[in-house]
Amino acid sequence: MAADEVLSQFKQSEEKKEIKFDKKFKVGIIGTGWIAEAHVESYKNMPDVEIVAGADLIDGKAEKFFKRFGVENVRCYPDHKSMLENEELDAVSVCTYNATHAECTIDALNKGVNVLLEKPMCVTIEEAADIMRAEKKSGKVLTVGFQPRGDENMIKIKEIVESGVLGKIYYIQTGGGRRRGIPGSTFIEKKTAGVGALGDIGCYSLDMVLNAIGYPKPLTVTGYTSNFFGTSTEYYPPEDANRFDVDDFAAAFIRLEGGIILDFRIAWAMHLDTPGDTIIMGTKGSLRIPSTECWNGTVGGPMKIYHDVAGSMVETVIPVIPSNGSLFDKKIRSFLDAIKNHTPAPVPTSQILYNQAIIDGIMKSAQAGKEIEIQIPEI
Ligand SMILES: NC(=O)c1ccc[n+]([C@@H]2O[C@H](COP(=O)([O-])OP(=O)(O)OC[C@H]3O[C@@H](n4cnc5c(N)ncnc54)[C@H](O)[C@@H]3O)[C@@H](O)[C@H]2O)c1
Repeated sequence: MAADEVLSQFKQSEEKKEIKFDKKFKVGIIGTGWIAEAHVESYKNMPDVEIVAGADLIDGKAEKFFKRFGVENVRCYPDHKSMLENEELDAVSVCTYNATHAECTIDALNKGVNVLLEKPMCVTIEEAADIMRAEKKSGKVLTVGFQPRGDENMIKIKEIVESGVLGKIYYIQTGGGRRRGIPGSTFIEKKTAGVGALGDIGCYSLDMVLNAIGYPKPLTVTGYTSNFFGTSTEYYPPEDANRFDVDDFAAAFIRLEGGIILDFRIAWAMHLDTPGDTIIMGTKGSLRIPSTECWNGTVGGPMKIYHDVAGSMVETVIPVIPSNGSLFDKKIRSFLDAIKNHTPAPVPTSQILYNQAIIDGIMKSAQAGKEIEIQIPEI
């Protein structure tokens, strides 16, 4: 299925806002694989955008890609460096596999180009810090591509927490998974993906709850990773199983600043339907967020708040809010508007640094076989 079809499955109405602009953004696409399709489809919906350049390491891939999407007069390059050298761009989408996120983003920022970077931010915490240093030096907009942030139900979760109805939050359980759903392709080798399910879908589960509670600093982590499914020819063809060297399952117990415990698990494959709903427990109430078919960018059903009213234990149902437009269009639009209006990045690296620190911490703790302290680098 095409990327845009999958990612826009919650789209109900196409409201076209009128956008005032005095010039067109000159946009370049770095990496013309699967997710670049959704970027191009959304950029095409923006009247103030002209896609002028694209780059991919695979010979001829970028040319075929733009032809397939009917985008004409795009100059194609064999890598991001030659594209940045030869073009005067306002913005780029970094749609490469995780292992080259840092390099492409830093090079673009150093050339004074605004960046929409696909999730996860990168692979290691050191890379995340280098990206943020380049961002700071450049003064350009850098946003990380977590499109579920635009989903009304995700916004509602944050509103519920911020309303105070849950009281002080002290424990969160989050994560999700698929019974059998390893993506294959460039996602299953360290040399391209760097990290497996943990980075691919784990970053979303972490963002859902951390964003709701204001991204407190992570302090310590006990992490576990395994890959019993991806490496097994019982479940996957030998051509995939024999090169699989990332995680397909991860679990962790994380202490956050403010006395909050985060209990997390994520799976690309397992003998189970779901490793559980997301729950946010507070002193005045708790919120249950039904797990999704991992990961489709919204909630899996009506949420419930468990609380006491006048001495009675009651449950308040929060109905699912229908989508009001493509999450990808919102993600691209919010990036362009931040550049245009000189406003902060919609999904700032100052938050996602903590998301990346947890992912990095889980990998390091799993390797060490013990709890570790999370060190946040100075930027
Ligand atoms: N936001 C979402 O919903 C969503 C969904 C799927 C994937 N993603 C993310 O998007 C990224 C890409 O995923 P994909 O499925 O498109 O992968 P992919 O392997 O299909 O495409 C990546 C492309 O990047 C190219 N590339 C790598 N380094 C490059 C460089 N230095 N210069 C130019 N091209 C380079 C590769 O040759 C490849 O064609 C991943 O980080 C993934 O996590 C996001």
